[in-house]
Amino acid sequence: MMRIKIVAGNWKMNFGPAEACTFFESLVEQLKAGPKAASAERVIFPVAYALSSEIQWVAAKANVKLGAQNVHWADSGAFTGELSAKALKSIGVEWALIGHSERRQFFGETNESAKQRLEHALKTGLRVIFCIGETLAEREAGQTEKVLAAQLESYIHALAKFVAEKQPQDFLPRHAAIAYEPVWAIGTGKTATTEQAQAAHAFIRGELKSKIGGHFAEQACILYGGSVTPDNAAILMKAPDIDGVLVGGASLKPDGFAKILIAGA
Ligand code: PGA
Repeated sequence: MMRIKIVAGNWKMNFGPAEACTFFESLVEQLKAGPKAASAERVIFPVAYALSSEIQWVAAKANVKLGAQNVHWADSGAFTGELSAKALKSIGVEWALIGHSERRQFFGETNESAKQRLEHALKTGLRVIFCIGETLAEREAGQTEKVLAAQLESYIHALAKFVAEKQPQDFLPRHAAIAYEPVWAIGTGKTATTEQAQAAHAFIRGELKSKIGGHFAEQACILYGGSVTPDNAAILMKAPDIDGVLVGGASLKPDGFAKILIAGA
C-alpha cells in the first residue's frame, strides 16, 4: 500500500529564532523548484526557543510544521528544564520527538521514561516521532533485533494504553511514527545501506504486526535517520518499508533540505 511519507528535520541545539526565520524564508525559495502540491508531511524540530507562533507562521509558508525535541510526562510541576505537552499544544505546536538516541546517551533517557513521555504526548494530542536504534557494539554482537524489540516494547505498550483509554476517533498510525536511527549512523557520515535499513524496518513492521495488528502495521510510518543527505534520501525512501526520513545535519541547509523534501514528495 502507498503510505504518506514524513520528511523531518532535527536541528538539535542549532539555530536561534532569527536563524530559524532566515532558514524558512530561504527554504520557501528553494522549494519553488519542486512540485506545487507535496504529499509528504514536513516537520522540523527546532530548539524550544524557536517554536513561537511567529516562526510557525514562517515555516507554514514552506508547508512545514514545527515540533519539540523532547516532551515531559506531566503537564506541569517541578521538572526543571523539561517541556510540557499541554503548553506546547497551547502555542500551536503539533509534534514531538521522543527517545532520540542523544537523549538516551547524554541525558539518561530510558525505555521506561520514553514510554511515559510517549503516553502523555499521545494523550495530549501531540503527534510524535519515537526514535529507536542500536549502537555499533550491539549490531556487531548480533543484538540489533533484540535491542529494537526491547525499545519497541515501550512504543507498543504506550499505544495499547492510549487506544484502550481514549479510543481516539481521528488517530492514524502515522501520528505516532517511529524513526529507526542506528546510533552508529547518527552524525558520522556512515549511512546504513538501503539493505540494512530496509531489513531493520521490515523487522519493526513485523513486530508491530504481531503485537498490535496487521492493519496498524500496514499503515505505520517508519522513518530512517542517520547521515541522511540530499544524495541518499531518494534511494532510501524507495525501499518498501522506509516511509520517510529524519534528518539531522543536512536539515540545517535550506538548499539540501529542500532536495530531501522534494525527494519525499
Ligand atoms: P544526522 O542526525 O542526520 O546528522 O546523522 C540524525 C538524527 O540525529 O536524527
